[in-house]
Amino acid sequence: MSIRYNENTKQLILETASTCYQMKIDNMGYLNHLYYGPKLGQNDMSYMFRTYDHGFSGNPYDMRNNRDFSLDSMSQEYTSFGVGDFRVNSIAASCSDGSRCAEFRYEGHEVTDGKYSIPGLPSVYDEGGQAQTLIVTLLDTAANIRIKLYYGVFEELDIITRCAEIINAGSEIVWLRKASSVCLELPFGKWDMIHFHGRHCMERQPERVPLFHGIHTIVSGRGMSSHQHNPFVILCDREATEENGPCYGMMLMYSGNHKTEIELDQFDSTRVVMGINDDRFRWELSPNTGFNTPEVILSCANGLTELSHRYHRAIRNNVVRGQYKLSHRPVLINNWEATYFDLNEDKIVSLAKKAADIGVELFVLDDGWFKNRVDDNAGLGDWIPDTNKLPNGLDGLIEKINALGLKFGLWVEPEMVNEDSDLYRAHPDWAMTAPNRAPMMARNQLVLDLSRKDVHEYIFNTLSDLLSKYNITYIKWDFNRPLADVYSHAAPSPRQGEVTHRYYLSLYKLYDRLTKAFPHVLFEGCAGGGGRFDAGMLQYSPQIWCSDNTDPISRLTIQYGTSFGYPVSSIGAHVSATPNHQTGRLTPLNTRGTVAMMGAFGYELDLTKLSEDELSEMKQQIERFKELEPMIHNGLYYRLSSMQESGHYFAWQFVSPDRSRSLLSIVVTNPLANSAPVHVRLKGLDSQTVYSVNGEFECLGSSLMNSGYTFPQLTGDYPAMQLDIVKVK
Ligand code: GLA
Repeated sequence: MSIRYNENTKQLILETASTCYQMKIDNMGYLNHLYYGPKLGQNDMSYMFRTYDHGFSGNPYDMRNNRDFSLDSMSQEYTSFGVGDFRVNSIAASCSDGSRCAEFRYEGHEVTDGKYSIPGLPSVYDEGGQAQTLIVTLLDTAANIRIKLYYGVFEELDIITRCAEIINAGSEIVWLRKASSVCLELPFGKWDMIHFHGRHCMERQPERVPLFHGIHTIVSGRGMSSHQHNPFVILCDREATEENGPCYGMMLMYSGNHKTEIELDQFDSTRVVMGINDDRFRWELSPNTGFNTPEVILSCANGLTELSHRYHRAIRNNVVRGQYKLSHRPVLINNWEATYFDLNEDKIVSLAKKAADIGVELFVLDDGWFKNRVDDNAGLGDWIPDTNKLPNGLDGLIEKINALGLKFGLWVEPEMVNEDSDLYRAHPDWAMTAPNRAPMMARNQLVLDLSRKDVHEYIFNTLSDLLSKYNITYIKWDFNRPLADVYSHAAPSPRQGEVTHRYYLSLYKLYDRLTKAFPHVLFEGCAGGGGRFDAGMLQYSPQIWCSDNTDPISRLTIQYGTSFGYPVSSIGAHVSATPNHQTGRLTPLNTRGTVAMMGAFGYELDLTKLSEDELSEMKQQIERFKELEPMIHNGLYYRLSSMQESGHYFAWQFVSPDRSRSLLSIVVTNPLANSAPVHVRLKGLDSQTVYSVNGEFECLGSSLMNSGYTFPQLTGDYPAMQLDIVKVK
């Protein structure tokens, strides 16, 4: 049993293989948070719970004679609002009488086998019947708001999922103004926050900062999970390293506006509230209706590596759906950086021929294949093949590609429209624009209002037609601008604050319908590169184009940052041209291949311009990747260089699940003259197994992990090296 209730102590205890989570219903009916951390032999953590006279904090009315008792200093599972807990709140609402406060007390709980699901939203699923669900119900009788807190306990995965449902239990409308998914309290300890910030072409840069008193906010209001702030944060002990130290992860499974507030309060206690961004959010809750928040995946582990492994395993096995989740991903070539918009059938077929010769398995036709799409000024919305560029239509092209032995994939950006398109001319009100205001433009395009049913159906039918009519086995689903002027011409004015979330409910439904109708199609998510790289999208698209920056040296930090939360199999990574189109940097093909092999591997350059030597090196890369893919995608991934060392080199390692094989990779980003050689301690090997190291010598796993390995001097422009470590006996 992963979930237990102790009637005597009024404790609810959740246990996974190595962690324990405890809460307690106190005498007043408040649901207190007691503990989340490593499993302890000790079952009752209530001794940790003490109250003190906290001066200016205030006391609930029925505890007015007990100054020790204050909501402002208590650890809680989900907060009240407006009644004397002055820290960041989980929820805010206004009632029809204008009041804006509620105080939640325990009403009941139930435990069920299996994992709850959330209506309309992606969530971690349980196929093997290994999960249990706890639902705790809280109620405020004055505002008539009921909250159901959901906990999904995955024992083997060592994760706990959480979300909330806010229900209007009264007879008048309630306006929900904030509805977070979780509140997690860390009452003691000194914590660093690691978060993943960035920009277009430089996503998920890790930053580790000590918490200071006040509120740290990680937020996106861009209508997408964003290039700027990923909805994943880690709190770790000041001393924590890859190997050791308490580390807590919180990952929001949502692709829209999000907000994480981390408050270090006056009593040195830390509270984290994570969920949908409340800025411009307002949801009408009519009587007897509920609002479901997105899910947060929680884990805690000893060291950052173990934390990452838990997220990788959970996402690979219990988030990603469909036939591609653990199986081979086709090695692809994408024509974008080879042709940009200047494509035609001859160019595409010549590129495909070269690709087929070197062992590529899938050809992806990127932007520019449809009517009027000569640049980014026109065409989005009208998904009709351009017969000027493709005189034999898409079928003619696909036949030729298939005849070369390649599968065919297509780029689409279905959520967007250009003003210069038949779709916009017919339905200008389908675009999100605010009344009497010229809209913000980005890449000359507008966003279709997917919160509308007619827009949802139009996109579903358009994509279904393409997928039914043509032999397409892969879709690159792009999204190239943020949401601004958020306004639905189909929604009444009091409900405009619902539009962004309704947009995402509709997007998830669209993906759900399409992936069910076309299960053989591999979807790759994309948003100007990695602007919508989150666990929500990963439920439907097993891989996501990680960044529009294909420079391998930039990719080192982008992929390094991404690896903290997301598995290697989810990271779309391509070998591109040198000099690189984004940075102008020259790098060896070996380096580009080494870096792209930390991902769902492919190519994105004009192969017709390459020498025979380069093509044969690529052929070898592809053979190597195909052989190693099961380990790279579904094995264990270790970061061997730390954030501090990344100025000089990056080293990482893959280990097969049975530990019989490993691949050690290094890229030197800043060769130093006459420096100490790079030395790493390997990880994850079996200590008693003898391994061959690149066929050069044999060595016990324990030696490689304790004494380590010293690389030869690597000099020149961004040199890279891969070492095969194979079990001998
Ligand atoms: C985005 C994508 C690119 C490419 C272009 C096409 O920027 O991230 O990979 O598909 O759009 O317009």
